[in-house]
Amino acid sequence: MIALLKSHIEGDDKVFLSVAMQAAAREARLGHGAVAQQLQDLIEEAKRRTANTQSRPGQLVVLEPRGELANLLSVQTPTLRLADMALPPSLSERLERVTLEHRQQKRLREHALQPRRKLLFIGPPGCGKTMSASALAGELHLPLFTIMLEGIITKFMGETAAKLKLVFDAIRQTPGLYLFDEFDALGAHRTQANDVGEIRRVLNSFLQLLEKDCSNSLIVAATNHPQMLDRALFRRFDDVIEYTLPDPNLASDILQRKLAMFDTTAVDWSGVLPEAEGLSHAELARAAEEAAKRVVLDGSKYITSGVLQAALRERKAASR
Ligand SMILES: Nc1ncnc2c1ncn2[C@@H]1O[C@H](COP(=O)(O)OP(=O)(O)OP(=O)(O)O)[C@@H](O)[C@H]1O
Ligand SMILES: [Mg+2]
Repeated sequence: MIALLKSHIEGDDKVFLSVAMQAAAREARLGHGAVAQQLQDLIEEAKRRTANTQSRPGQLVVLEPRGELANLLSVQTPTLRLADMALPPSLSERLERVTLEHRQQKRLREHALQPRRKLLFIGPPGCGKTMSASALAGELHLPLFTIMLEGIITKFMGETAAKLKLVFDAIRQTPGLYLFDEFDALGAHRTQANDVGEIRRVLNSFLQLLEKDCSNSLIVAATNHPQMLDRALFRRFDDVIEYTLPDPNLASDILQRKLAMFDTTAVDWSGVLPEAEGLSHAELARAAEEAAKRVVLDGSKYITSGVLQAALRERKAASR
């Protein structure tokens, strides 16, 4: 019993199960067949469950937010990595710096230094802001909590501020990456003259909570309307990371990654890439998918320049 409890306290499943097996064997020796059998069945069940949770490496077992938090946060356990994204070197260096400082935070804190934890992602739609947050969480094996702003913003601003506080309590209590996606929604109502003062109060309480927060969680706010945000906000973040439309090199990287399952040797990239100009990462990914579908339905596996160009032109027309 003592060995059993010790291994349970230490969380050592292996020892726990082996002690339990010894107990089952002992009961069998004593002629207590039914008890021995019951113990053995339970041990088998325990083993099956451990195997199930261990068969998904990198997967975290995360408690779903409960109570009122369930309406404010949604949780995911991303498996995406930064290497899965097509990123310009400057951007990938900045994101890697975040992961490095998070991994080495103990060392930094020992020297009274703070890892960068509060990030603002700005840039046009479809350029990878949400995806980067997911990849950062995946890279650091952190659960990704997305703040559901529609649950936070209510007609009653006092209530909104109280809900924000609940979110920041969770940030402190449960380490993770907390994403305030489409963050401008918090400030967007400011144009409605009637509640200018109210919204300002909500933003101010966000700023205060952000400033006070000294948890181990990462906080990411993302927006494609940075002009809607108060300048006072920018100073509160440890890093403001700017996303831009992809240049031709990156565009070709995105297309090729998406088409990795197909044969692209026949593609004349110098002829195709001018068609990609001005399209976002999301639009390029979509065009690649359309081209792939065409090829599959034609019963081929060769992507041609023509198919790709047509898909890109179609995307461009759709985005105008
Ligand atoms: N760097 C990238 N590498 C590969 N694919 C990308 C990249 N960035 C974006 N994509 C593709 O574009 C899609 C949309 O990206 P994402 O949702 O991250 O954009 P966003 O910047 O958050 O846009 P919005 O401002 O509209 O929320 C992704 O699901 C992915 O398919
Ligand atoms: Mg987004």
